Amino acid sequence: MKAATYRRYGPPSVVTVRDWPDPVPAPGEVLVRIEAAGLTSGDARIRAARAPGGLGLFLRLAFGVTRPRRPILGREYAGRIAACGANVTRFSVGDAVFGITDGMTLGAHADYVAVKADGLLYSRPDSLPPIEAATFFFGGLTAADFLLDQCSLQPGERLLIVGGTGAVGSAAIQIARHSGAHVTALTHADNLQLARDLGAHEALDYRIACELSGYNVILDVPGVMPQALNALAPGGRLGLVTATFGQMIRAALRPNQTNQRRLCASVIQETPQAIARLIELHRVGGYRPLVGESFPLAEIHHAHARADSGHKRGNLAVLMETLPPQDAPYAP
Ligand SMILES: NC(=O)c1ccc[n+]([C@@H]2O[C@H](COP(=O)([O-])OP(=O)(O)OC[C@H]3O[C@@H](n4cnc5c(N)ncnc54)[C@H](OP(=O)(O)O)[C@@H]3O)[C@@H](O)[C@H]2O)c1
Repeated sequence: MKAATYRRYGPPSVVTVRDWPDPVPAPGEVLVRIEAAGLTSGDARIRAARAPGGLGLFLRLAFGVTRPRRPILGREYAGRIAACGANVTRFSVGDAVFGITDGMTLGAHADYVAVKADGLLYSRPDSLPPIEAATFFFGGLTAADFLLDQCSLQPGERLLIVGGTGAVGSAAIQIARHSGAHVTALTHADNLQLARDLGAHEALDYRIACELSGYNVILDVPGVMPQALNALAPGGRLGLVTATFGQMIRAALRPNQTNQRRLCASVIQETPQAIARLIELHRVGGYRPLVGESFPLAEIHHAHARADSGHKRGNLAVLMETLPPQDAPYAP
C-alpha cells in the first residue's frame, strides 16, 4: 500500500509517501481500505513534537522519546471493510465505515489500516460522504466535551468562542447554537461570514479591540486570550482548549477562581458514549464537520503545512486513490 511515513520529528517535509507492507488483521480486527482521512492539528503536533508549554515531555513519552515510535500518523478515517479477521461478526466486507484509530497506534494516513472491530469503528451513515466522515471526530468530540461536559453550557447562556472557524471552533459554533446558547465568535476578518453561516449570532474581528464582558462561557480554542477570566460573568466557565501543563494542573486543583468563575482545561474523553452523542447530534442536524480543504495523499506535506499555520478553516482531509470519483470534492 501507499502510506505517509515519517522517521524523525520535524517540519512537514519529514513526511514522505512510500510503499509500505499492507497490515494484516489479527483475530477480532478488520482491515479498512481507507478512502479519506482527517489531518488534524493533533497530527501536526505529533509530527513536529510540538506541544503547549510543559507538555512536550509527555508527547515524546507517548509517541517516541528521540524519534517517532509509529511511522504512520493519522487517527480519523472513513473507508470500507476490505477483510475481516477471525471472530468478527459486527462488520462484513464492503461495509462503509468511519472511525478513530487507537490513540497511540495512529496509522490512518495510508491506504489500509487494521483496527479492532469492537473499537471506535462505526457504520457510516448515508448523510456523511466519506470526506466529511473522515473529519467527523476530532473537532466535534473536542467541542462537545468542552462545551457540554466541562463547561456545562446551558440554553440561553452567552458564549464567546475564540477561534470560531477552525476544526474545534466550527464544531463548537454549531453545537452551541443547537444547544440554545447565544453565540459570539471571534475570528479573523476573512472568516466573519463563515462564522455566521455556521450559526454564530455575532462574529467579531479579533484584530479590532472591543469590550468583551458578561459571558457565561468562554471557549478559548487557541489559548490566546489571557484576560478571558475577567470577561466572564460571575459563575462563568472558561474552557481552555489549548492549555499549558500549568493551566491544566491549576484547573484540576483549583478550578474555582474569584466570583466562582471556573477554569476547565482537561484532555477530552473519547468514549463510545461521547461518540454516540456526537453521531446523534449529527442525526438531528446539530453538527456536521466543515471540510475546508482536501489534499491527495501524495501532497500530504501541504496539508501538514496548512495545519501548522494555526489558521485553517474547519478540517483538512487527505484523499486516497480508492475514494470514488463522485465523492471527491471539486470534481470537474
Ligand atoms: N484539550 C484537548 O483535549 C484538545 C483536543 C483537541 C484539540 N486541542 C487543541 O485545540 C487547538 C485548536 O485545534 P484546531 O484543530 O481547532 O485548530 P485550527 O483548526 O488550526 O484552528 C485554530 C483557530 O484559532 C484561531 N486563532 C489563531 N490565532 C488567533 C488569535 N490570535 N486570536 C483569535 N483566534 C485565533 C484561528 O482563527 P482564524 O483562522 O480566523 O485566524 C482558528 O479558528 C490545538 O492547539 C489543539 O492542540 C486540544
